Amino acid sequence: KKAKEFEFDKLSTLPEDEVEYARLQRLYAINEKFYTLLLEKKTEYSISEAGNVSLHEILEKSLPPTSPVSPSKKLVVISAFMVALFVSFGLVLVRYILHNDINSLNEITKMTNASISVLGIVPRYKKEIPVSQLLVDKNPKSLIAEAFRSIRTNLQFISNEPGSKLMAVTSTISGEGKTFVAINLAGIIAYSDKKVIILDLDMRKPKIHLGFNVPNLKGMSTLLIGKDQVEDCIQHSSLENLHFITAGPIPPNPSELIISKKMDEILAHLKTQYDVIVIDNPPVGLVTDGINIIQKADYPIYIFRAEYSKRNFIQNVDRLFNENGIKRLSIVLNGVDVQRKAYGYNYGYGYGYGYGYGYGYGYYDDLKKDDDRSVVKKIFTN
Ligand SMILES: Nc1ncnc2c1ncn2[C@@H]1O[C@H](COP(=O)(O)OP(=O)(O)OP(=O)(O)O)[C@@H](O)[C@H]1O
Ligand SMILES: [Mg+2]
Repeated sequence: KKAKEFEFDKLSTLPEDEVEYARLQRLYAINEKFYTLLLEKKTEYSISEAGNVSLHEILEKSLPPTSPVSPSKKLVVISAFMVALFVSFGLVLVRYILHNDINSLNEITKMTNASISVLGIVPRYKKEIPVSQLLVDKNPKSLIAEAFRSIRTNLQFISNEPGSKLMAVTSTISGEGKTFVAINLAGIIAYSDKKVIILDLDMRKPKIHLGFNVPNLKGMSTLLIGKDQVEDCIQHSSLENLHFITAGPIPPNPSELIISKKMDEILAHLKTQYDVIVIDNPPVGLVTDGINIIQKADYPIYIFRAEYSKRNFIQNVDRLFNENGIKRLSIVLNGVDVQRKAYGYNYGYGYGYGYGYGYGYGYYDDLKKDDDRSVVKKIFTN
């Protein structure tokens, strides 16, 4: 009975299930159709996409740089180094090309006739000296006095025969220290108990009277024209053995006066009274006035000034030696900066220069001659 009931129940619901089944089947058919359509479309798209090939290909993915592209530190450092190197080489080259001054005795001896003797050097005084004057008496232990003493000793090797001697000092141009060396060398010789007289024959630019601070109303020029007597013109310095005759008023014809017979007479007369006659001559590089006297001298001395005289001045020495036959010519290098090691003169002394000057400035026209160096030179020196 129970089974019959069950079958009946089942059979009674059958039409409803069939309706539901038909509905679901329809829904299924619709969905399947829709799905098939989408699948078809997807395949179509894939096919069309596969047919459209791009021209570009990515080989490597780009990465952001870790350091700045510009400026490059390395490049900047290298280029700065190269520029500095070139500029310094350039400066050295320019300085080398422009370097034309005499700095050491070595340079002179290398460029001159081997048989020209060197008397020595005179250091540069550390203070500005407005006019050449006697320094060796103020501090006899100074380097300058020592240098002149050494020159005095060396002079004996040039000529040591008895009798009075004629010393003539000259140089190439003005300002090299002829007057300075003449006065101080005369002074140091006077210290060695010799009677010395200085004659100012630089009649174009007389300076001896300025150095001794005396008037120049009479002197060599008035003597040579016979206006005055030798004895009236001799003046005395602070040193007992050191006398001098100033140049006198500037004459129009100094060259003629110097080679006149009167000159020889004056020298002969002075030789009877003095052991040494020191003559301050004009520069021979500019005028030939002095050559005659230099030829006669027992001690012809040629002055160069360190960092002032030019190298081509050295030719003059050879000319005097060879052409003018001045075989005793000897050289002094004045104004050497002994504190600069470059010169190789290491005195090792610790002398102080305690000079005091009581000279009034203002009456010398070429007071600053010493500083007449070009701006270019100043840049390249020191
Ligand atoms: N060794 C030195 N130290 C310091 N100053 C010096 C030295 N030698 C010379 N002077 C100075 O240089 C200047 C020129 O020197 P000085 O007058 O002796 O030269 P000069 O050759 O006689 O010149 P000029 O032909 O014009 O007479 C002077 O003021 C002098 O005092
Ligand atoms: Mg002079």
